[in-house]
Amino acid sequence: MYKSKTCGELTARDVGKTVTLAGWVHRRRDHGGLIFIDLRDRFGLTQVVFNPQTAPDAHRVGSDVRNEYVIQVTGVVEKRPAGQENHALATGEIDVHVTAAQILNAARVPPFVINKNEDVDDALRLTYRYLDLRRERMLKNLTLRHRVVKFMRDWLDARGFIEIETPILTKSTPEGARDYLVPSRVHPGKFYALPQSPQQFKQLLMVAGYERYFQIARCMRDEDLRADRQPEFTQLDLEMAFVEQDDVLNLVEELFTALVKQVAPERTMQTPWRKFTYDEVLDKYGSDKPDLRFGMELTNVSDIAANSQFAVFKNALAAGGQVKGICVPGCADYSRRETDELIEIAKAKGAKGAVTMALRADGIHSPASKHLTPEEQNAYVERLGGQVGDLLLFVADQPKVVGDALGALRKELGARLKLADPNALAFAWVVDFPMFEWNAEEARWDAAHHPFTSPKPSDMHLLDTDPGAVRANSYDMVCNGYELASGSIRIHSRELQAKIFSLLNIDEERQRARFGHMLEAFEFGAPPHGGMAPGIDRFVAILASEDNIRDVIAFPKNQWAQDLMMHAPSDVDADQLQLLHLQIVHPESQAQYGLDKP
Ligand code: AMO
Repeated sequence: MYKSKTCGELTARDVGKTVTLAGWVHRRRDHGGLIFIDLRDRFGLTQVVFNPQTAPDAHRVGSDVRNEYVIQVTGVVEKRPAGQENHALATGEIDVHVTAAQILNAARVPPFVINKNEDVDDALRLTYRYLDLRRERMLKNLTLRHRVVKFMRDWLDARGFIEIETPILTKSTPEGARDYLVPSRVHPGKFYALPQSPQQFKQLLMVAGYERYFQIARCMRDEDLRADRQPEFTQLDLEMAFVEQDDVLNLVEELFTALVKQVAPERTMQTPWRKFTYDEVLDKYGSDKPDLRFGMELTNVSDIAANSQFAVFKNALAAGGQVKGICVPGCADYSRRETDELIEIAKAKGAKGAVTMALRADGIHSPASKHLTPEEQNAYVERLGGQVGDLLLFVADQPKVVGDALGALRKELGARLKLADPNALAFAWVVDFPMFEWNAEEARWDAAHHPFTSPKPSDMHLLDTDPGAVRANSYDMVCNGYELASGSIRIHSRELQAKIFSLLNIDEERQRARFGHMLEAFEFGAPPHGGMAPGIDRFVAILASEDNIRDVIAFPKNQWAQDLMMHAPSDVDADQLQLLHLQIVHPESQAQYGLDKP
C-alpha cells in the first residue's frame, strides 16, 4: 500500500500514530529551516512538516519538490501548537512530522494555478482538463454529481425500478435535433444513429412488460450549443406502465424532494411544487420555463387600455392584440440610456418598442404622458401595484410578442436586480402543452414534444378539425429558469400513433420505414405507459450554482463541440475511410467551420 491513511482523515485522536501518506504537493512553504507542505489527495489536505535537524534526508526531499509533485511521506502525527490550528480543515488540528519521504513523480509547472479558485481561460481548462479536475471546485462538483446519481439509483431501486441499458448504435429517434451518424463497415452506405434519447427503447421495454424502468442514459444531439446544452449529456430516463400523468409527476416530485434534502439540505425549496398550465406560465411570465424565485408577473391591462387615446395601445388592441406591463422595483431613476437599453431588449423579441412609466416622488414620468389621462395612468399604476420608486414597462402587440418581450425584460431585470434568492430551488410543473407546433418554413405541423406523445383525451375530437388547439398529455419540470425535464403519457394504440404520424405529414411508407417496429409492437399488447427524463447535467449545475453545465461534466466539449484535450473530432486515415466506404468530398468545408485550425 502506498498509504496507510488518506490526506482527509487524521484528527487529534490520531496523535502519536506513525502513518504513511501519498498525494500531490498542494502548497509548499520553506521557512528557512522547517518546510511545510500541504499534501493533497482526493480526500483532503494534510500539513506535513520536514525538519532538517531530526530527518535531514527527508528534508532534502522536501527541498526538492515543487507544486503538483507526487510524493510519499511517513511520519508521526502531532498536535499543532496552540494558535496554529486551521479550523477550516478537517485535519487542521494536527500535522505529520516526516521521518522518511520519496518523490514518486515530478511535475512540470502547471499552465494555471491549481491550489486557488482563480478564473482560468476556458480553452486552457479544457485542454488540460486532468489538471482542471484537480481543482477543488471541480472535485466538489463531480462528487456532488456522483451523490445525485447514486441517490437516484438507490431510491428508484427501492421502489421496484430496474436499470436497463439500451443501445448506443441505433436508429434515428426524433427528439428535434440533428443526429450523430456512425457509418457501417459491413453495410456499405448505411449508418447507425447515436440515440438522441432512449425514447423508443424505453417504450418497447414497456411493451415487453418491464413496468418500471430507468437508466442513467447518455444522449447525443447535434444542435447549437449553449450554456445549458452539450452535444452529449445525461438523462435520468424513466418509464412506467399502467400510469397516468399524476403518477409520474408525484413519483418524480417525491424523488427530487428527497434528493435535495439528502444532498443539498442547505437549499430551500417550496413543497408541494407549484403547477401551471402552459397557457398560465406564458400569460404570467412570458416563458415556459420561468424563474419563480421572484414575482414581477406580467399583468394584463388591455381592459384599461381599451378606452385609451394612446395610438400605440389603441392600434395594438384593434389588431386583436393586448397590452401588458411589469412593475420593476426601485428603477424609477433609470436614465434615458438605461431605459433605451430595456426598449432594445423588447425590440429584439419582435416588439415595436416598450412604454416606460417612472413613478417618482414628484409624479409619473412617461414619454406617453401627453397621450394618457391622469385617471388612465393611475389605473395602470394601481393594477400593477406600483409604488413610488418603481418603473413600469408596457408592451402592446400580439400576445406572443408581448409575452416574449416582457418575458425577456423580466428575466434580464430579475438577474440585474438580483431578485432571485441564490439559495432557493423553485421547482414547478408545467402541464398541458400544445400537441403540435406550426412549422411555417415547411408548412406543416411538428410535434411539440415528440411524436409518441398522446393527446389529452378531452381534445381528441379536435385532431381532425383544429390540430393547433389540441393539448398534449405532456409535462415539463422547471427550476430556477431552466427546463429540467420533459415527459409525457405515450400513445399505445397503433391506430392513434399512425394517425398522429399522418398529421405530422409522415406518409405510410415513411411510417413503415422509420417507425414500423413501434407500430407493430403496439399490435402485441402494449400497456398504457408514460415517463419522463430529467437532465442530470442541468440539475447538478443548479445544485452546484454553476452557470454552465460544462462545469459538472468531467470531459465536456467546447462551444464548437470539440474535445480540446483529446483533439476530437479529428482526421482519420485514408484506409479507415475506405473501409467505411466514405470519401471526403469537400475538405474546404472544414475551413468554412473554422475547424482546420489546431
Ligand atoms: P427532452 O428532449 O425534453 O425529452 O430532454 C429531456 C431533458 O434532457 C435535458 N437536455 C439536455 N441537457 C444538456 N444538453 C442538451 N443538449 C440537452 N437536451 C436536453 C434537459 C431536458 O429537459 N425522450 C424525452 C423524454 C420523455 O419524453 O420521457 C426527451 O428526451 O434537462
